[in-house]
Amino acid sequence: MRAALFLPLALLLAACGAAPRVEFADASITLPDDPGDLPEGPGRDAVIENCTACHSPSTMLQQPKISREKWEATVKKMVTLYKAPVDEKAVPQIVDYLLAAQAGEGDVSRETPR
Ligand code: HEC
Repeated sequence: MRAALFLPLALLLAACGAAPRVEFADASITLPDDPGDLPEGPGRDAVIENCTACHSPSTMLQQPKISREKWEATVKKMVTLYKAPVDEKAVPQIVDYLLAAQAGEGDVSRETPR
């Protein structure tokens, strides 16, 4: 317990002493490049309604290709861990859409392997 408290404190003190001074030339920032839109396809509206309140489309689309079960688990995690207000009836549509988006790399009307 003591060590657990000591280490962060020591790091904090070290950081305070050694931190370089950062000066900005101006106050503007450049946001990362984000495609910002979901490709057309069945289930797109369900994803917009249930998922895009908290994060951008790229959070969902730029993921490793995962199975249906893993997408279902991810949606469940959004609900249980992050309290996402997801309509339970929309979950199959959302999962279908995301699988299709990954399979078709943009063309979500293509048939996906199950
Ligand atoms: C209430 C806010 C909220 C909603 C709504 C939400 N998410 Fe998330 N989501 C999060 C948070 C918070 C993270 C974690 C972000 C991080 O780690 O930087 C996350 C992360 C993710 C990730 C990254 C991988 C992972 O497992 O962390 C995916 C994929 C994802 N969400 C998909 C979805 C989908 C699909 C939906 C719609 C069903 C959805 N999210 C709705 C809050 C939300």
